[in-house]
Amino acid sequence: MLHDGAVDFVLHAELLNFAALKIKDAVCDRFRDKAHGVRPDVNTQWPDVRIYAHLTTDTCSLYIDTSGEPLFKRGWREDKGDAPLKETLAAAMLAAAGWRGTPGEGGALHDPCCGSGTIAIEAAQIACGIAPGLKRRFAFERLLPFTTPQMRALMQRLKSQAQTRIHAPAVPISASDVSFRMLDFARRNAQRAGVEAAIDFHGGDALERPAPAVPADLHGTLMLNPPYGERIEVAGKAARPSAEDRDTPGDFFPRLAAHWKRAYTQHPAGWTAWVLSPDMKLPGAMRLKASLRVPLWNGPIECRLFRFELVAGSARD
Ligand SMILES: C[S@@+](CC[C@H](N)C(=O)[O-])C[C@H]1O[C@@H](n2cnc3c(N)ncnc32)[C@H](O)[C@@H]1O
Repeated sequence: MLHDGAVDFVLHAELLNFAALKIKDAVCDRFRDKAHGVRPDVNTQWPDVRIYAHLTTDTCSLYIDTSGEPLFKRGWREDKGDAPLKETLAAAMLAAAGWRGTPGEGGALHDPCCGSGTIAIEAAQIACGIAPGLKRRFAFERLLPFTTPQMRALMQRLKSQAQTRIHAPAVPISASDVSFRMLDFARRNAQRAGVEAAIDFHGGDALERPAPAVPADLHGTLMLNPPYGERIEVAGKAARPSAEDRDTPGDFFPRLAAHWKRAYTQHPAGWTAWVLSPDMKLPGAMRLKASLRVPLWNGPIECRLFRFELVAGSARD
């Protein structure tokens, strides 16, 4: 008689550690043979060189990590807040919006829910011509041939050339947040990124702050990833319903759209808003028509970057 069967397979961590140990021994032995008996030190937390092994049924591939810290880290963020965007995602949002930091390509930029300042800081670095990652180190800098005097000099020359390309921004960039703690983080991050002077930071509720004052002939770009209520709650006016003001935090988005309609649509050169959200029904909730939806992933969360043209009468109601 045939019974139902099942196999449970458990791979013990010791086995993986054993594989890592074998690779480490092989690398150390090779160094000992080639470098007159000197074996490299092992530092599992902050290694100069990290080796990755991928084991399949019949092959083992070894990779040397030439980046070091993940590439989304540009070297300026220390203060994070609760739900920071990755620097590369903020840069991707700006690229998707065609924002290049010039009067003709995006114009002025404002993030009214700036948190730790990622969008404004990435924007300011673009507008100032600061090469991404100029402030960080890469793992390859500690590997041959980059450790030779010639390559060090070449790297230094490239960095100096990149420094000479830095200039003052041609468009105004501003950022605000209802939380003064977050603003403080954002300012400190901007300082480390070398763009503190390029960003105008303000405190204030996104539902109340007037539109930034920009020249009449300069187009404006609003860009934000607003609070979703998962990791970051809406704060400010919409979170404090009073007797006369019975709105709930769920009203944040229609009220934000209504505020934009009042404060932003009178500008002669117009404003365009770009909102990153995992809520596919956001345009309906804001009663705004999205003229573009760009799929983007915020870590594991599928999002859309919605584009709204803020022209008079753009709110459906
Ligand atoms: C998802 S976070 C933005 C994260 C930011 N992009 C970053 O990279 O750090 C949303 C931000 O909205 C702010 N916020 C919540 N309610 C607000 C309101 N009514 N007005 C302005 N900012 C608000 C929160 O303080 C929080 O910093």
